Amino acid sequence: MTKSVTYHKICIAPMMDHTDKHFRYFMRLLSKSTVLYTEMITTGAIIHGNRNRILEFNEIEHPLAIQLGGNRPEELAESAYIAENEGYDEINLNIGCPSDRVQNGQFGACLMSKPELVANCVSEVLSKVHLPVTVKTRIGIDEQDSYEFLKSFITSVSNAGCNTFIIHARKAILSGLSPKENREIPPLHYDRVYQLKSDFPSLNIVINGGITNLNQVKNHLQYVDGVMLGRIAYQDPYMLSLVDRLFFESAAIIPSRQEILENYKYYIDKQIKNGIHPKNLTRHIIGLFQGQPGARQYRRLLSETKPESVNDTSYFDEAIRLVSNH
Ligand SMILES: Cc1cc2nc3c(=O)[nH]c(=O)nc-3n(C[C@H](O)[C@H](O)[C@H](O)COP(=O)(O)O)c2cc1C
Repeated sequence: MTKSVTYHKICIAPMMDHTDKHFRYFMRLLSKSTVLYTEMITTGAIIHGNRNRILEFNEIEHPLAIQLGGNRPEELAESAYIAENEGYDEINLNIGCPSDRVQNGQFGACLMSKPELVANCVSEVLSKVHLPVTVKTRIGIDEQDSYEFLKSFITSVSNAGCNTFIIHARKAILSGLSPKENREIPPLHYDRVYQLKSDFPSLNIVINGGITNLNQVKNHLQYVDGVMLGRIAYQDPYMLSLVDRLFFESAAIIPSRQEILENYKYYIDKQIKNGIHPKNLTRHIIGLFQGQPGARQYRRLLSETKPESVNDTSYFDEAIRLVSNH
């Protein structure tokens, strides 16, 4: 079975409660070529939940990967099949989340200690879909944090047919740390991820964790195939406006902040007509003017205002005015 390939040179990380379809639309206004990821969606939510609402996306979001959370091969395969029919471009399995909720469900990062099960999940999904199946994981968990452990995990899972691994370059500590702490406290070991690329040259290795500027991106790309950016895409999204020109196409147009804002406003107006609450739309663009004149008041207006009604976007108009006077 041929699997189409999504190109992972730069991608935007799955982030729960952040990378919904509105955020991803906003990302697309900044960069056409990055691969976008959904938040983690559990197999239970896809199989038993409101599928249309959970899976819907805007056409502009391609290339778009769906991240699945689960540990039952058949349920992952069924969810992947549904996602393929919805038009997603890639199935990504979450083998890196350390939250208690996910651990109670026995998926996410704790699956690193069950490479055979992960391999079964990958092969079952591959048998049901034509899409590439990728894995997002960590460099280790708890005491299982040697390079040999990581290498053996990658060997098992790649033998099952996964050829793209996104590696958050820190281990997860499964008890005692919150998910937030697990993104900050365990030290980053980029060298481990570079070593993987050198030991598995035919695999597509994407590095993730603590990457905050495009110079760092450029540097990592000397050693690995791709870079995944998470929090910085939220904190300083405009940084991404340079990505297409620097990493994909030298003639790519760099949109201005104002142009992005205008296009997103057009999107907001349409979404509000569909009944979406304005705060669910404006929350994603709070960082757009990071470092610019007026940014503080802009940020404050967007984060603190409680709109009078679901149609009330006057606070957004005011925020636009604040940053367009400069
Ligand atoms: C708010 C938030 C939610 C996250 N949710 C997910 C998730 O659903 N699935 C996942 O694999 N990783 C999730 N992550 C982890 C990120 O994908 C990424 O691995 C991590 O933030 C490290 O990258 P960064 O330093 O560039 O942010 C989340 C991170 C944040 C900040």
